[in-house]
Amino acid sequence: MWKSDIIMMNGELMPFTDAHIHPLSLAVTYATTVFEGLRAYHVPDTNQFSLFRVEEHLKRLKVGMKVMRFEDTYDNQYLTDCLINLIRANKPDSDVYIKLLVYIEGQGLLATTGPVGFTAAAMPRKKAVFAEHGMSLGVSSWRRLSDNASPPRIKATANYHNARLAVHQAKLDGYDGALMLTPDDYVSEAPIACFFMVRDGKLITPSCSSNILEGITRDTVITCYQETTGNQVEQRSIDRSELYFADEAFLCGTGQEIIPVTSIDHLSLGDGNVGPITDKIRQDYFTIVRDPNADHKEWRTLI
Ligand SMILES: Cc1ncc(COP(=O)(O)O)c(C=O)c1O
Repeated sequence: MWKSDIIMMNGELMPFTDAHIHPLSLAVTYATTVFEGLRAYHVPDTNQFSLFRVEEHLKRLKVGMKVMRFEDTYDNQYLTDCLINLIRANKPDSDVYIKLLVYIEGQGLLATTGPVGFTAAAMPRKKAVFAEHGMSLGVSSWRRLSDNASPPRIKATANYHNARLAVHQAKLDGYDGALMLTPDDYVSEAPIACFFMVRDGKLITPSCSSNILEGITRDTVITCYQETTGNQVEQRSIDRSELYFADEAFLCGTGQEIIPVTSIDHLSLGDGNVGPITDKIRQDYFTIVRDPNADHKEWRTLI
């Protein structure tokens, strides 16, 4: 298995352990960091990798930088080229997970806008613990951040303080993971993934106004499901109690991919096993991210 030997800082490749940032940088003192997690999938029987929806990831990153008033430093083609160089430099022989962080590396005051720096790391795939048999979720008593306080739509590291609180509570309470509600009590998302449920054959997910990150995987699932089945995905508010009527559910995200959910608040969904619709969505997802001949060529950058 390949190792993450090379990291990139501000366009420069260097040994992984040589990457440093000053503890008094604004990135540390005021959490002024936006980031993306991306995946480059190994194309079977080739030396190629399929970097998935890089354009959409960088577009979201750019908006995050704008909202957080970072100096506009990097164009997206430059960052794409950097990610490709980073992947090649690590000589992977299996799937790659990439973390790209952009932050204010300078010291200063709360309103300081630069200098802006970036780090990109490429790492091997970790074992997906719940992917096969599903996970249990508990509805958290920690509410999801509200849009008008610390917008969840922006992928800022600061937002993950809220997510961590929910994760720790869920683990201590005996669940595999948490599901968070909006401040006005509708289902929002999991700490690091979007939520979908199946009820009476319909696929339902919280709307983009439910304090969620507008997930790229969420969009992939919605688009592919609608194209393959001809059925619309309901994007709407979900009450907590509606969760218990679900026949199936799953979480999705670039890092999590598609993870079945088999119970919520210790109440089984359906027969408590991974459901057929979830299973099919999962298979379709792996085809679309990995197979160079699958639909939506525009989503895959071949390296
Ligand atoms: C809070 C949160 N929601 C949803 C997602 C899924 O987003 P995406 O599919 O764009 O990776 C993530 C991914 O990291 C996340 O952190």
